[in-house]
Amino acid sequence: MKTKIIELNEIEKAVKLLKNSEIVAIPTETVYGLGANALNSVAIAKIFKAKGRPQDNPLIVHICNEKMLDELVLDIPKKAEKLMQNFWPGALTIVFKKSEKAPCEVSKGLETIAIRFPKHETMLEIIEKCKFPIAAPSANTSGRPSTTSFEHVFEDLNGIISAIVKGEASQIGLESTVIDVTREIPVLLRPGGITKEQIEAVIGEVLVDKSITASISDTKKVSSPGMKYRHYAPKATVEIVEGNVFKTAKYIQKYSDKTTGILVFDDFHELFDKKNTKTFGEKKDIETQANLLFAKLREFDEINVGKILAQCPQNQGLGLAVANRLKKASGFNVTKISGKVYGLTGQSGSGKSTATRIFKEKGFEVIDCDEIYSNLLENSTEMSEKLQNKFPKCFENGKINRKLLANEVFADKSKLLILNEITHEFIVKEIENLILQAKNDVILDAPLLFEAKLDKYCDEIIGIVCNEDVRISRLAKRDKLSEKEIKNRLKNQKNDSFYIEHCGIIIENNGNLLDFLQFIDDKEI
Ligand code: TXA
Ligand code: MG
Repeated sequence: MKTKIIELNEIEKAVKLLKNSEIVAIPTETVYGLGANALNSVAIAKIFKAKGRPQDNPLIVHICNEKMLDELVLDIPKKAEKLMQNFWPGALTIVFKKSEKAPCEVSKGLETIAIRFPKHETMLEIIEKCKFPIAAPSANTSGRPSTTSFEHVFEDLNGIISAIVKGEASQIGLESTVIDVTREIPVLLRPGGITKEQIEAVIGEVLVDKSITASISDTKKVSSPGMKYRHYAPKATVEIVEGNVFKTAKYIQKYSDKTTGILVFDDFHELFDKKNTKTFGEKKDIETQANLLFAKLREFDEINVGKILAQCPQNQGLGLAVANRLKKASGFNVTKISGKVYGLTGQSGSGKSTATRIFKEKGFEVIDCDEIYSNLLENSTEMSEKLQNKFPKCFENGKINRKLLANEVFADKSKLLILNEITHEFIVKEIENLILQAKNDVILDAPLLFEAKLDKYCDEIIGIVCNEDVRISRLAKRDKLSEKEIKNRLKNQKNDSFYIEHCGIIIENNGNLLDFLQFIDDKEI
């Protein structure tokens, strides 16, 4: 079969083919879809054949208005209505009880039907012009990573389907979220473009289907048949390494050789030989990870690698979807590395030392950056030599005078930069060693966590915030400084809103110690 390439200004051609029971790949904001008339069994059968899709795996039906929905579903539960108001058009597929008129071919024997109202203009225009709903699975060969660009669709389906509408790369890059609202408590069947947290903010509690985070046997009855197949798989075997971003990177470094394909966050790219290494965004940039994941998995097929070792985000927000696709690509071949790293930061006087003491009592290992710096100044001859080179006046009989050094660098910003540049490398090396040696979860106590880019080592960041008045009175008591001196010292520090924006966990410490303790307990760290 010759596959036509349809440009975006030739949509009519796609409409005509679809009206003639043909199948056409169409861009959507999640991934490319392989579309067919949802009401036509001949067209639907072609989808299953072209993809090599298991016959028991139902399809999502795409609509462009709510009238189309009314014809396909038995009823619209209240919670579904709320979801539709908030997330349609968009990356959310809702599973309803199906109406009598709904086509059996798309539901594959289920009593339910999955419906999505997409946002992508091209897809919407095609449905509007066809005047029938369009069934569309992702436009890939079954089992391969979903397609997020025209080129991917061409690679999998050229010569097999009637046409491909050539649009831009998909904006989200992961499929829609699938949620079943036919049960008392809605169940998340597939995490995707809309997060569980976003959904819960609208309709309250949502259950997570077991198949999202763990392997299920092929014979077991599952809520969403698509979840039981190994999906998104590149040719090479895949092992997912789950845990702290630095520890997992070091694990991958240790267990890889020249023939290993490596998929890691940008943050620790420099640990690896560039040849077989691919990165898919910074650790904290899950949107980019979502956007690049499928393309990167496909790229591994173009190079000859024996095995792929991959890092994986945490199961929060869009991370749940990215982690789910990665784990499925590996057939749930997941190695868990234990030991989390919590960054701890905040302004002077906010109560970091008190918090550190409490965390120590709770069994955390504390890495104190100030202490590391002091120890290095005392004990590292290598660092000392470098400092002596740049700050000769601060040394007396070969020993550093910390007061002189402080005076010199605080009077001149460029000198402070030089000092930081020299010490940073030594401090970081020490932090890395301590993280790797830690037997338990770690608190990385760093007043300048963000400025020193230490956030990249952390799984979570705790910011301690506190009223300025309270901080001033605490510092006055502790350091015996005047209010003016304290204000001077505080003025270069970041304000509360900075910490609130950048830290996942915020602990307020305005009142007494008991409140503070309670706060820490409540956060379930
Ligand atoms: O973003 C997307 O959802 C893309 C674009 C093209 O819209 N489509 C897509 O379709 O990912 P597909 O076929 O690759 O995945 C559909 C998933 C499968 O896991 C399938 O089992 C599930 O939705 N599904 C479909 N109908 C269902 C139903 N009635 N009940 C439960 N799960 C259903
Ligand atoms: Mg699919």
